[in-house]
Amino acid sequence: MSSVTVIANWKQTVLYLILIVSLVYVIETLISHKLHINHSKIRLKRSPDLPLRFRDDGTFKILQVADMHYGMGSITRCRDVLDAQFEHCSDLNTTRFLRRMIEAEKPDLIAFTGDNIFGSSTTDAAESLVEAIGPAIEHGIPWAAVLGNHDQESTLNRQELMTFLSLMDFSVSQINPPAGDDLDEAERGELRSIDGFGNYHLRVHGAPGSVLSNSTVFDLFFLDSGDRESVQGRRTYGWIKESQLRWLQDTSKQGYNQNIGNFLGNPPALAFFHIPILEVRDLWYTPFIGQFQEGVACSTVQSGLLNTFVSMGNVKAAFIGHDHINDFCGNLKGVWFCYGGGFGYHAYGRPNWHRRARVIEAKLGKGRDSWTGVERIRTWKRLDDEDLSKIDEQVLWEASYSFLK
Ligand SMILES: *[C@@H]1O[C@H](CO)[C@@H](O)[C@H](O)[C@H]1NC(C)=O
Ligand SMILES: *[C@@H]1O[C@H](CO)[C@@H](O)[C@H](O)[C@H]1NC(C)=O
Repeated sequence: MSSVTVIANWKQTVLYLILIVSLVYVIETLISHKLHINHSKIRLKRSPDLPLRFRDDGTFKILQVADMHYGMGSITRCRDVLDAQFEHCSDLNTTRFLRRMIEAEKPDLIAFTGDNIFGSSTTDAAESLVEAIGPAIEHGIPWAAVLGNHDQESTLNRQELMTFLSLMDFSVSQINPPAGDDLDEAERGELRSIDGFGNYHLRVHGAPGSVLSNSTVFDLFFLDSGDRESVQGRRTYGWIKESQLRWLQDTSKQGYNQNIGNFLGNPPALAFFHIPILEVRDLWYTPFIGQFQEGVACSTVQSGLLNTFVSMGNVKAAFIGHDHINDFCGNLKGVWFCYGGGFGYHAYGRPNWHRRARVIEAKLGKGRDSWTGVERIRTWKRLDDEDLSKIDEQVLWEASYSFLK
């Protein structure tokens, strides 16, 4: 190689380097904002005070919000409202209803039971979720969400949605339970191998200062009932799978709370998921409380969930959504199944049939000088009318202490 070619090569290299550096500079200055690279400080999630616990007055109240079907806010129109209401009605009415419910009921937890957003009406699932859940965050209320069958129809898939939901402020939602009972594994952050996204368990502790302030007195299970599936060539809705039932049974068998004052065994539990189970259809022939106005849209597959609940023994009620104009509670083998009733204005509904929400309140028993375990679980609904009318109040469960007295 002559010294002339070496110098030529060297010059070429320098030119290339200059070109590359200039390109990087141009990309950084001109288009980085479009790539959402921003240099503002990383903000950590604002977490609620955990564990969840009963109040000083011995109550714990959950607001169930079913089927918000949120789109893009003010530009997303309402469905199935009166003609006269149509012009001034959008997703903002859903937001307004959520704020009113929070202010009226002051819940300790909000459970969003799926179809929180309506995928095909939004171009940005994350933004839509931020707006939909917004009022819970504004009020600093812990909230838990599961997915319906419409949430993933936009820019995020189900795994991404649950990840995002778990990272939002004041969220107690989880992607899935930790792997096994092995603490080491759980510490490494591994998730259990389970169908779906958004299967998790929340424990609620007794009232502060009471004998059960460090014990779980109330259990909440959240389940992913899927979206749609094909079974033998036929399209049907999702259902709760074997792996999810096994997780429920394993969690229940841990029997972590053998004696919580009032009774032996696991504390009373509630479940939350989106799509009803097959047996909910049978409730038509029973004395249900509330309105049964449309067919139960569920999977053709028998999930076995009801039998799992029965064998767990402590599940007192399950709260579902999906069928917006059903809002009843009915009892199957000792377990109540309650619809939330459609909440969102962009969701189908019925003109002149108010959007509504369900409230669930658990109350502790009073021992000689301290609150004890859960004594009673009640539910009611409120309509989005002028007075937020309270309807269909009922007792779902009461502890029988007869053997203790
Ligand atoms: C929606 O909100 C607007 C503005 O607050 C209100 O005037 C209207 O009555 C609401 N519509 C319904 C159907 O609640
Ligand atoms: C609960 O735990 C706290 C902190 O460890 C402790 O100070 C308190 O005495 C415990 N209360 C009961 C009733 O065990």
